[in-house]
Amino acid sequence: MGISTTVIETETVPGEAIQKERTVKPCALVIFGATGDLAKRKLLPALYNIAKEGWLPEGFEVVGVGRSAADEQAFRKVHQEATAKFSRTKPVDAKTWEQLSEHIHYVLGDHTTPDTYKRLLEKLDSLDRERGTQGNRIFFFSTPPSSFEGILSGLKENGLLKKSSERRAAGEANPPFARVMIEKPFGSDLPSARRLNNMAADFVDEDQLYRIDHYLGKETVQNILVLRFANSLFEPLWNRNHVDHVQITAAEELGMEGRGKFYDETGALRDVIQNHLLEILALAAMEPPVSFKADEIRNQKAQLLRSVRPIHPSEVATEVVRAQYEGFLDEPNIAKDSKTPTYVACRFMIDNWRWHGVPFYVRAGKKLNKRVTEVAIHFRRVPLCLFGRDEVCQRLEQNVLTLRIQPDEGIEFSFMAKQPGDDLFVSTVKMDFSYARAFDRQPPEAYERLILDCMRGDQTLFARRDGVEEAWSLCTPILDAWRDDDSIPLHSYAPGSAGPKAADELLHATKHHWRPLDTPDKSPNSVLPNASGPKQG
Ligand code: BG6
Repeated sequence: MGISTTVIETETVPGEAIQKERTVKPCALVIFGATGDLAKRKLLPALYNIAKEGWLPEGFEVVGVGRSAADEQAFRKVHQEATAKFSRTKPVDAKTWEQLSEHIHYVLGDHTTPDTYKRLLEKLDSLDRERGTQGNRIFFFSTPPSSFEGILSGLKENGLLKKSSERRAAGEANPPFARVMIEKPFGSDLPSARRLNNMAADFVDEDQLYRIDHYLGKETVQNILVLRFANSLFEPLWNRNHVDHVQITAAEELGMEGRGKFYDETGALRDVIQNHLLEILALAAMEPPVSFKADEIRNQKAQLLRSVRPIHPSEVATEVVRAQYEGFLDEPNIAKDSKTPTYVACRFMIDNWRWHGVPFYVRAGKKLNKRVTEVAIHFRRVPLCLFGRDEVCQRLEQNVLTLRIQPDEGIEFSFMAKQPGDDLFVSTVKMDFSYARAFDRQPPEAYERLILDCMRGDQTLFARRDGVEEAWSLCTPILDAWRDDDSIPLHSYAPGSAGPKAADELLHATKHHWRPLDTPDKSPNSVLPNASGPKQG
């Protein structure tokens, strides 16, 4: 494709920084479900943007496997139109698309039919010979999890997939790679996640399996680690001595968006908390890794999740709030008696030395009044108010460090300042770092980063088996309690609101308050005497 072959990045190891060349190797990317929604909205637009940056190597080919497009031309056309619509960079550059589209191929077929794999094998062999893909293959399963086993065995039976350990054992010195990318959901509870992982382990080794949690591909999620470990200011404060509590929020304005059937079987706990928010919690709370190598980071994340105290079914009524937005039952493909929560808030406690006694509040919901994903670290109050006057002392608020993951990506620190004037009045003011203002560059979409990382063989931003199972072991008792105990209330909330009142009460018990979702602006907090907010406790 006439595009550069390497990307140089810095990898940090204790005490030294080394320049490490992370090679993007030639390979064929095979997409199952290639005419589906994910491929149209995310995958091909991501490939287009990678191509536009000049990061695709020589010998990179895409092979779509699907049924809806009649032939290769029709397949390319579908994606040309979809990329024009969904690419993060617009308008789509015709020359880049044209160059990319010469590397897009199509195998018409059903993944349940053995013949499809035979034709896929022929296609991949011809690409190895004619386009230099060197036998390296990435299989992206953009299909429902129920199809994973069938595809894995189809690939294996046709010699397209072997365990890397078996190849090494057979004496192959530098075998070409075969990697598998799968999308969540990785199971629907702990037993099903274990079954899925065991099944996958029959076909591939863990180092071949790339489990996508697209939140890990977001720049601002990755920046949690940079903020913590590339600055000396924060880490000494990052513990129970200084942090009062942490709030992690994923609020969405959108509702079902045509995904009623999927969502009714899933709900907010499985859809967002088990994966995206527990990944974020792990990154925000884990111990420093020995190095920035994939498994060192994933070891620390898994260890942190192991230290989160499981919420026992008998505690679910007091530690977790579930709710449905009004009108959910009238949405298409939702059971009329559905108890699926569209909003969940939980209080997690972490039983380790760093975090003992510090609540981590996590909430996720659909159809709320604002789209915001953030981590807010609330620091402890000052031990004593020296200002004498009640009206000042009562207004002293906690310092809050907010990592804004989206939208308006950035970091904000709020602290107290004296208002100008003779008298001593105080206000909350904010220091605000915004990605958009600081860097003159639009961050890549999560899938751009994740596809490139898979081509490089870097698993840092992919979920590992133990982490996934730990997260399920925290969520499964909650799901079991909801299933078995009818006395646990299912609250409701108005669409476009900040969520159910019960979620506020969850925090009131520990004298905390959710950060308002509808923060009016970023100007200093309202001044005395009408300022509201938590009082000094
Ligand atoms: C997905 C969930 O994993 O994440 C969706 O299935 C949710 O329900 C989405 O809307 C949120 O992702 P983002 O990137 O829009 O915050």
